[in-house]
Amino acid sequence: MTVAPASDLAGSAASVPRHVAIIMDGNGRWAKARRLPRMAGHKAGMESVRAVVRAAPDLGIDVLTLYAFSSENWKRPQEEVGFLFGLLKTYLHAEIAELDAKDVRIRVIGQWRLLPADLVKLIEGAIDRTRNNEGLTLVLALNYGSRDELVRAARACIADGLSDDEVTEEAIEARLDTAGLPAPDLIVRTSGEERLSNFLMWQSAYAEFVFTSTLWPDFGAEELAKACETFAARERRYGGL
Ligand code: IPE
Ligand code: IPE
Ligand code: MG
Repeated sequence: MTVAPASDLAGSAASVPRHVAIIMDGNGRWAKARRLPRMAGHKAGMESVRAVVRAAPDLGIDVLTLYAFSSENWKRPQEEVGFLFGLLKTYLHAEIAELDAKDVRIRVIGQWRLLPADLVKLIEGAIDRTRNNEGLTLVLALNYGSRDELVRAARACIADGLSDDEVTEEAIEARLDTAGLPAPDLIVRTSGEERLSNFLMWQSAYAEFVFTSTLWPDFGAEELAKACETFAARERRYGGL
């Protein structure tokens, strides 16, 4: 019998989601509705990122994961991909001092080391600077894909010389990018789409889902609070009674 990890059990008792993960979707449609270029939607979306990061600690959230760039988003035009990386640089440059001052610890999941070198350097600096902070953990999913993460975890088991009975749920979990983080209690997706798009597939086994038709640039502190309220009314059973 497999016992639910402590983080899952803790979630059942609490009405506050300890870990909220957001699939920030709908920037392009937000721009289209205003006859603006997609880039304007991404720029507006960055303001929503600022808003939720500021609001999360007040809502009692310990870990906030934001899906910012998927391993499949490389399929987009080079111009858009470059713009998204540029925005991320702007965000980190502009916010790092405030994030650090607010005791936010930055973590990154996904193959972020394969991003452009200047961005990698900036991310390394941000992780390093905030390493010992003890407030909100802000997890940025960058060049992240769940399947890719699981393949890398499987390869790490082999590289570590694990025998077949040593390949346990715990062994895999310890080799995921999210190692050491509690599983997401609540996954929010904006823009009306109701799919995971290769996000946290292993980790979301017992997550609650909230889908909202609000486009990401229109999402803010109030909608985040509403999603937490919806979460609080859910009953989590983890397969039990
Ligand atoms: C989310 O908005 C941002 C990223 C995926 C980086 P989209 O760019 O996917 O917006 P839509 O889905 O086209 O509206
Ligand atoms: C998911 O959104 C990825 C991010 C939010 C970073 P997409 O817009 O890429 O997802 P699909 O293509 O609609 O599934
Ligand atoms: Mg989209």
